Amino acid sequence: MRVAALVLAAGSGTRLRATLDGAPAKALVTLAGRSLLARSLDALAAAPEIEWIVPVLPAAALAHWPRVRDEVRDAAKLLAPVVGGAERQDSARAGLAAVPSATTHVAVHDAARPLLRASDVSRVIAAAAEHGAAILAEPVRDTIHRVANGRLAATPPRAECWAAQTPQVFRIDWLREAYAKALVDGVIGSDDAALVARLGHAVQVLPGDPRNFKITSAADLRLAELLLAETA
Ligand code: CTP
Ligand code: MG
Repeated sequence: MRVAALVLAAGSGTRLRATLDGAPAKALVTLAGRSLLARSLDALAAAPEIEWIVPVLPAAALAHWPRVRDEVRDAAKLLAPVVGGAERQDSARAGLAAVPSATTHVAVHDAARPLLRASDVSRVIAAAAEHGAAILAEPVRDTIHRVANGRLAATPPRAECWAAQTPQVFRIDWLREAYAKALVDGVIGSDDAALVARLGHAVQVLPGDPRNFKITSAADLRLAELLLAETA
């Protein structure tokens, strides 16, 4: 198995706008002095199974890359950054096109999850090595309703509902096929696992660490700061 990681950092961070403070992207916002992107890159680089890391950035952030690279503790696995696209899926597609030809498995990670631990990366990679596709996820705490036109349409049993995290790891042929089919069918999946599952492949779901949450709002950034201070 030879694993490449894509670190998706090309979103605009609309929901964190007030906190961006001149940063061209959410991934460049700092958390206790280091960017979300550098923290995510560090967690992946620390997993021994990962050989290469492709950062996917917005065009406006490319000029900042040398600074981020300097923030990363172990830059040896980092490949040149690529520019992402309008949707997360477009950014992942751009990253996938840039992995080395020897890659057999791809780990897709949101830069917006900076508290990822390398041990969880290794765990999800091991499951993907065995089964072809695996993700980290958390059982949801709230009841999830499907709502259509302002009305409750369906309520899946809560015990069956899990909130997806990243990294999500796949055989590269499955991921390529999933992206090709999504393009043909005009489908935008909210994560990569949904696109791979559409092909009929089983995706293993592993319980993830709640601290691997996605920074979406200013409150999330504050929470991450508090959690980091606790473990420092
Ligand atoms: N992402 C990306 N390319 C896009 C959209 C999102 O690479 N066109 C990345 C983001 O950088 C982030 C991850 O996908 O690391 C999850 O997206 P999200 O949390 O929605 O981040 P943003 O899209 O940046 O934030 P917002 O939706 O608030 O604008
Ligand atoms: Mg977004």
